[in-house]
Amino acid sequence: MKITLTDAKPDKIKADALVVFLFEGEKPKGEIERLDKAISSSMTEAISLGDFKGKLYEVGSFYTHGKAGAKRILVVGLGKRKTFGEEYYRNVAGAGCKYALKLGVKSMAFVLTEGQSAEDVIEGAGLAAFNPEIYKTKNKKKDSLEEIIIAGKSDLQTIKHSQVVVEAINWVRKIINEPANLMAPKEMVEEAKKIAREHKLDLEILSEVEAAKKGMGAFVGIAKGSEEPSYMVTFKYKPLRVLRPLRGLKVSPLNEVPTLAVVGKGITFDSGGISIKPSEKMHEMKMDMSGAAAVFGFMKIVGQLKPKVNVIGVTPLTENLPGGRALKPGDVVTAYNGKTIEVINTDAEGRVVLADALSYAAKLGATHIVDLATLTGAVLVALGSEAAGILGRPENWVEEVKKAAKEAGERVWELPIYPEHKELLKSDIADLANIPPVRGAGVIAGAVFLREFVPEKLPWAHLDITGTAWLSGEKPFLPKGPTGFGVRTLVKLLGLLEKAK
Ligand code: BES
Ligand code: MN
Ligand code: ZN
Repeated sequence: MKITLTDAKPDKIKADALVVFLFEGEKPKGEIERLDKAISSSMTEAISLGDFKGKLYEVGSFYTHGKAGAKRILVVGLGKRKTFGEEYYRNVAGAGCKYALKLGVKSMAFVLTEGQSAEDVIEGAGLAAFNPEIYKTKNKKKDSLEEIIIAGKSDLQTIKHSQVVVEAINWVRKIINEPANLMAPKEMVEEAKKIAREHKLDLEILSEVEAAKKGMGAFVGIAKGSEEPSYMVTFKYKPLRVLRPLRGLKVSPLNEVPTLAVVGKGITFDSGGISIKPSEKMHEMKMDMSGAAAVFGFMKIVGQLKPKVNVIGVTPLTENLPGGRALKPGDVVTAYNGKTIEVINTDAEGRVVLADALSYAAKLGATHIVDLATLTGAVLVALGSEAAGILGRPENWVEEVKKAAKEAGERVWELPIYPEHKELLKSDIADLANIPPVRGAGVIAGAVFLREFVPEKLPWAHLDITGTAWLSGEKPFLPKGPTGFGVRTLVKLLGLLEKAK
């Protein structure tokens, strides 16, 4: 997709559709007013007739009859000024784009509204343009948007950056959307190799046998239920190791250099294992690798933006199936950090595979960890699709990740881990059980379990993305299905870490 900047006046911009924004109950002002005058005040007329109200995500379409450069003008409502917040800047651009795509529009121009950035528009429009229908042989909607034109203040670097990010996110969504028979762990490994090759990242691929030799008994335990080969895959991006001495800068000891580890749950299909799930909606469990896919996409971005922070990405990739050698409820496995886990419910498999991934990330020298996982249905009960759960320690690291999420326009909501929640880990025969002995606090139970595999001094935040990684119904600015949640937060976090250094 081509993205360009223009300083032309709105009525002179040539495009299939020109998008402008308007608050509810307000009249066009400034250059939008001039644009409206150019088309015989059609917008003002629609507003006075009550046909266009300016409600959030409402779209009004106006033909220009050659009186403006664009073939049509789409006015997107911002809702009431009082209730509008910065998290909507991307979505309103997405609403305009989603509407325009139905009309077969190829080139779209956006007049930035006050406070909105080119980044908001590129990301919002780019995400709305995602086409999930990859396996339709007929009536295949073409990826039709070819050009985005930005009218407003920006610079080419911002545009390039946003484009890299949005393209990576749409790649992540495509990978999540792939059915489990076509995106099993071995296919994910092929994708990882492509990314590593293209962006010159180090890649370590541990087979099940190699993982077992390293002592990753938790990961291997889950992997045993599936006939497909499983892999622990780790990306490594370590620019500081090389760059510092080369540039003759003062060499700081490696442990002073921040190394961000991102760990993503990569269950390419979660049947529940022997604790099998009901069949209704089970097909959606191909999305249980959304965390790993987000990590892959993030590494793609890291490879292109080349930040001055070390980054490692760890992804345990396996299916969770009830094969003949699958873990049985009550089985005990020993994790990479030596702790023993009683697997009481094989459907709580995410925390089991992540146990090894987290302690492996620590072993590899992580100084900060974020994990992303479609870990519990409980987070969907608590927060729906509007926010991911966030938990971790210490509080200032959790705050940092929350700040990154806010900048990224991805909502996260913190849940506590109180000392009493350790009760949720009780097992009669092992160090830990993978599900609590009592009902309730499902999201916290997942997090308090994961915490056992992160050294106490290591800042760690866990994002439970079950509700946000996959939309069961469409939104005015997004199609249903995979969202690529988490990638943008990680990118913003990288920026914060770079600045803090
Ligand atoms: N992958 C699921 C979580 C999930 C649920 C993802 C719904 C997408 C939609 C996870 O592995 C799981 O099965 N969690 C269990 C945990 C329980 C057994 C403690 C759950 O949430 O029911
Ligand atoms: Mn499960
Ligand atoms: Zn799962």
